[in-house]
Amino acid sequence: MLNFDFHNPTRILFGENQIEHLAQLVPARARVLVLYGGGSIRANGTYDAVMAALDGRTIFEFGGIEPNPSYETLVEAIAVVKRENIDFLLAVGGGSVIDGTKFVAAGSLLDADPWTILEQRAKNVSAALPFGAVLTLPATGSEMNSGSVITKQATQEKFAFMSRLVFPQFAILDPTRTYTLPARQVGNGIVDAFVHIMEQYMTVPADAKVQDRFAEGLLQTLVEEGPRALAEPDNYAVRANLMWTATLALNGLIGAGVPQDWSTHMIGHELTALYGLDHAQTLALVLPAMLRERRDAKRAKLLQYAARVWGLRDGDEDARIEAAIARTEDFFRAVGVGTRFADYGLGKDVVPAVVAALEAHGMTNLGESGEVTLNVSRNVLERCT
Ligand code: NZQ
Ligand code: ZN
Repeated sequence: MLNFDFHNPTRILFGENQIEHLAQLVPARARVLVLYGGGSIRANGTYDAVMAALDGRTIFEFGGIEPNPSYETLVEAIAVVKRENIDFLLAVGGGSVIDGTKFVAAGSLLDADPWTILEQRAKNVSAALPFGAVLTLPATGSEMNSGSVITKQATQEKFAFMSRLVFPQFAILDPTRTYTLPARQVGNGIVDAFVHIMEQYMTVPADAKVQDRFAEGLLQTLVEEGPRALAEPDNYAVRANLMWTATLALNGLIGAGVPQDWSTHMIGHELTALYGLDHAQTLALVLPAMLRERRDAKRAKLLQYAARVWGLRDGDEDARIEAAIARTEDFFRAVGVGTRFADYGLGKDVVPAVVAALEAHGMTNLGESGEVTLNVSRNVLERCT
């Protein structure tokens, strides 16, 4: 196991009606900005529950944060923060709203164009406003981590930053708030969480038994509960298990002290920036292709994954590895997320543009060992047809 420094300051309040506790969580004298997306929270009662819990407070609101939140929209929120002297932010929504709120938290206290936070990967962030989150979509893990992914529409760039200063102070996880999710977002969330686990697990052995077994338990939970969430949308136990799995998938715990490989995400971000695919759609495309392309480098972990997650223990090793990758792909399809370019109306002709974007953004040595060069990424993308 590698050395690590694990520190996660986010307080989690999990379960039905936990929104009622907002009054104790948000400082009484704060000037609060509630940030949200395109209106789902108004349609499903979450907005009303939040406002009822914060009754009597000084509240401002900023709606309209889009999926794959944009710099262009978020600078408007920063303007509201400055104009109204806001000193506490509350994100109510999915990963896009929480990521956007992190950007607003840091960008509001920065004496420069906030896009420099992305360009400098947060090296210039020395302060951020405090904020909390009410999660409505289990997927990204943003509710309990310090990462944020922002898109600049003008230049079609989608970049991530991480800063210890943008951990949420608290996150409210009420599984009943996810009942209204459209099937497409349920499937997306399952695939995103699955791939987060894989990017921290599917590398090379590091003698990290707890991280491995924890990761395998989370993967098995997604395999068991994912299709059930689509078949039984109001099943509380299923939603609760999915929600906690997605949070634990990317709160730092399973990634502590192990090699990581974020190449699928980095290639995926370029696909979203260029062609507007949902984040999870890009992952369902790239991950199986990446595993096939790098099956030799990842051989030991692929065999472990085949055995422990899919029960494939007998027969030829190469056949077991291929079967495990095929099961993974079948699983993504079973939760409604396509795994080939044709599923999204794309073809092989997109490959040069994606490779050029990776090159322009310095994504030339990805993977746990830096082995994923532009040539490897090109091969991976060619396998997505
Ligand atoms: O905008 P509204 O109207 O709220 O609708 C949203 C949105 O259209 C809807 N939705 C959310 N909760 C709902 C609901 N609809 C009905 N009922 C509910 N309870 O779902 C749609 C998608 O929401 P979004 O927040 O975009 O989805 P997700 O949570 O999957 O977030 C994706 C973003 O997170 C980034 C992605 O790149 C992408 O920009 N990621 C963030 C990470 C992080 N911070 O650690 C890691 C991830 O790898 C990922 O990159
Ligand atoms: Zn992701």
